[in-house]
Amino acid sequence: MTKVTKVMLIFGGESSEHSVSVISAQNVLAALDTNKFSIDLVYIDKSGKWWLTDSVSSGINLDGSFQIVPVLGGRSFVELGGNQLFEPDVILPILHGKNGEDGAVQALAALMHLPIVGCDMTAGAICMDKVATKRIARDGGVPVVDFAVHHVGDPTPDYVGLSAKLGPNLFVKPSRSGSSVGAGRADNAVELMAALNLAHQYDDVVLIERNVRPRELEVAVLGNVPDLQVSAVGEIKPDGDFYSYDSKYDSTSKSAAVIPAEVDHAVITQIQDYARQIFTLLGCRGLSRIDFFLGQDGKLYFNEINTLPGFTNISMYPKLWLHQGMTYPQLIERLIELALKSK
Ligand SMILES: Nc1ncnc2c1ncn2[C@@H]1O[C@H](COP(=O)(O)OP(=O)(O)O)[C@@H](O)[C@H]1O
Ligand SMILES: [Mg+2]
Repeated sequence: MTKVTKVMLIFGGESSEHSVSVISAQNVLAALDTNKFSIDLVYIDKSGKWWLTDSVSSGINLDGSFQIVPVLGGRSFVELGGNQLFEPDVILPILHGKNGEDGAVQALAALMHLPIVGCDMTAGAICMDKVATKRIARDGGVPVVDFAVHHVGDPTPDYVGLSAKLGPNLFVKPSRSGSSVGAGRADNAVELMAALNLAHQYDDVVLIERNVRPRELEVAVLGNVPDLQVSAVGEIKPDGDFYSYDSKYDSTSKSAAVIPAEVDHAVITQIQDYARQIFTLLGCRGLSRIDFFLGQDGKLYFNEINTLPGFTNISMYPKLWLHQGMTYPQLIERLIELALKSK
């Protein structure tokens, strides 16, 4: 890139992963080469307001900051109540979860006629929805863990009936959440009710799955179809009986990422083939981290896809590319290039 590209880095957001987004954005900002990019920072507060700020930190001081609003079809934002105009070349959304990773910001970018790093609104929305994603993957011949779906207002599920279908050890999670928020195991009727109530706090649609007591294997995809790069496979070794929010982000957590994963070569190549297939099937663009389970039954399952994976210090996506020899700055630059190409 010869000319300086104007990047609008958006972070924060309304979702339960607000603070994860802030940490990711700190890393991404540090990795952006200021000789190549000029950067406007936009902070979305927890109530959903967009602010132009000059720093990325957890306790953002908004004194003196001003809100910005989009100019639809105008490739720009304006200062609310003022005249200043911002015309980024590309949006870099370092957002997770609701109204960030789920197609909402991507739809806004489309309405503004601005390129955005990562998936478009359709793929963003589908991939945020674990039920939809699993159905599409399964339809494409990719194995997924057996599951049932519970909608808010459905009758109380019968543990005995469910466990006859899915096994006695269940795992319950909201269809559209992330970072393990609202997820938990259930090994009897009482735990099932508690887990369902918790999951329904985050979504009207909840998945009840067989607990496969998995090894957790993750792979990174980078590119636009059909030119996809697929990384080595990494393994998450969670601190605890599953990879919970605390085992992901608590500073005392002993969770570890092992790259490359110590599994059979055949499992690695199968994961890489499935990853390419899933990325294409779901209409993804730019990047995604695709997560698999190797169950205690020895079978491989696709679990979920993250279209805007974490960029924290412990995050697997940038680590997998580093393992491939791509530095953090090179990775971010590549993502921006891919977004500009797919205009
Ligand atoms: N069917 C399952 N069996 C066992 N553990 C599961 C199952 N589904 C999810 N988990 C555990 O919960 C974690 C979070 O679930 P996941 O589907 O990855 O949702 P998200 O990361 O988007 O919150 C997984 O990393 C895994 O540790
Ligand atoms: Mg996950």
